[in-house]
Parts: sequence; C-alpha cells; structure tokens
Amino acid sequence: MAGRMAGKSVMVVGAGASGPGWGNGKAAAVLYAREGARVFAIDRNADAAEETCAIIRGEGGAAEAFAADAARADDVAAMVDACLARFGLPDVLHHNVGIVMTGGPAETAEADWDRLMAVNVKSLYLVCRALLPDMAERGQGVIVAVSSVASLRYVGYPSVAYCASKGAVNQLVQNIAVQYAARGIRANAVLPGLMDTPMVVEPLKEAYGPGGVERMRAARNAQVPTGRMGSAWDVAHAALFLASDEAAYVNGHMLVVDGGLTAKFA
Ligand SMILES: NC(=O)c1ccc[n+]([C@@H]2O[C@H](COP(=O)([O-])OP(=O)(O)OC[C@H]3O[C@@H](n4cnc5c(N)ncnc54)[C@H](O)[C@@H]3O)[C@@H](O)[C@H]2O)c1
Repeated sequence: MAGRMAGKSVMVVGAGASGPGWGNGKAAAVLYAREGARVFAIDRNADAAEETCAIIRGEGGAAEAFAADAARADDVAAMVDACLARFGLPDVLHHNVGIVMTGGPAETAEADWDRLMAVNVKSLYLVCRALLPDMAERGQGVIVAVSSVASLRYVGYPSVAYCASKGAVNQLVQNIAVQYAARGIRANAVLPGLMDTPMVVEPLKEAYGPGGVERMRAARNAQVPTGRMGSAWDVAHAALFLASDEAAYVNGHMLVVDGGLTAKFA
C-alpha cells in the first residue's frame, strides 16, 4: 500500500532521536516520507533533525529540518512560520516530543516538574494553538499526538510527572477532537507501551533496579505478554494509520500499541 500519504505534508515535532538507532519520531518521519509525504522535521537538536532528513532524502523523499524548542512559544511561532513559508499549512501535525522522568511527588523538583510539563504538554498546546485556526478555515487537518500507556496505568515504578503529563495529552487531544470535528479536523493519540528506543536507556536504566541497561531491557521484555518490547516502527505504523485517509472516521481515539501490556492483570 505505497503512497498512503502522497501529496500530503507532515510537520513532525521531535523528529530526531535522542541516541543511536530508531526513536519513535525519527521512524514516523521516515515512514510518512516513504508513503509519499513531504516532511517538515523539527527538533531542538538541529543535528538530530538533519540526520532524519538525510535519511529521507537518501531514500528519494522530501524533507526539511528546523531547529526549535517546542516548549517555547517564540520557537513555536518561528517553526510554524518557517513551515508555512516553505511547505504551506501542513496536512498533518505529528507531535512526538516527550521526555521521561522517574520519581514520586516528594522526589520531583519543582523545576523538573515544570520543564517536563512544558515539553510534554505545553508544546502540544502551543503548536495546536498556532495551527488549528488555519486548519479549521481550510476545513481539513489531522493531529497525531504521541502519548503513552503511562497515561492510563502505573508503570511499575514512580514517575508521577511523566504519567500526569501523558494523561493531560490525552485530554488535550480529546478536547480538540470534539471541538474541531465539524470543521474537518481529526485528533488522535498513539499510546505506546514499553518500546525499545534510545529515549528510555539513560532515564530508566536504574528504574528496574541495579544491573543497568541489560537488566532494564530484560525486565521490560518480560513484562509484555508478547515477551518483547515494541519498536519505534510499531509506533510509526500506528501513527501512519491515524494520519492517513483510512482513518477518516477515527477521531478522539487513544490507540494503545503495547503488545497486550495494558490488557494484563499482573
Ligand atoms: N520509548 C518508549 O518506551 C515510549 C513509551 C511510551 C511513549 N513514548 C513517547 O514517545 C515519544 C518520544 O519517543 P522517541 O523514541 O522519538 O524519543 P527520542 O528521545 O529518541 O526523540 C525525541 C526527540 O525529541 C526531541 N525533543 C525533546 N524535547 C524537545 C523540545 N522541547 N523541542 C523540540 N524537540 C524536542 C529530542 O531532541 C529528540 O530528538 C515521547 O512522547 C514519549 O513520551 C515512548
């Protein structure tokens, strides 16, 4: 089914990866391009955004990188202006940025809470605030936000700021879905479970007890009914479906992609 995004433009916010290999945003950006979309790849790490674009161009696709911190209103205004000037109003906003932090309320510093909420929640509000009026006027637009199963469940160790932020993402998406449905806009979220991506390595390597990355990987694999963590491509394929016209009647949906993890009792 090649060409599912032919003729469309996608703004991917958080299009790089925080380490070697495939992160969710990087895989999604490349998959959108493989399906025919032009990709406006935003990341606060300019090199990471450029690396994703180089992969896309190397495969014959179209992509442009832009460096911005999506948690800052002035950066969001600049990145939206740049996208409008070079790509026009995007057909799809794929919002991937998110950072992980462990700890309960007593272990979470106020500044860290504020920063995490700004990156995980406020960034989505800022980009939607900038794009939705024009999308509504055009009568067409799709928002795909990357949330987490941590928005639904305790994940096995305290991570109160992260879980709360993802719960907020879900409600942001559902509010937008309902408010803008009659104006041709769909908003959905992908809720990944335990994925084997670069973003979890540093923040979570001690969350599963001493033993480092290999113990963390083994513990996460064992938690999932399928016996393994998912990959960035599992998230990307779910996002592609939500972004595509095949999901024309899917709106306000929280699409869990977790190998059966949240269906499990213990
Ligand atoms: N890996 C998992 O197990 C897992 C599980 C559930 C949900 N998620 C979600 O997936 C998303 C990220 O996945 P990933 O694999 O792409 O992570 P990643 O860390 O590899 O990539 C995220 C990219 O976003 C960029 N970024 C971070 N903050 C930014 C900001 N303020 N402005 C602009 N760019 C910024 C980073 O530089 C990085 O390149 C997050 O929303 C995360 O909560 C991941």
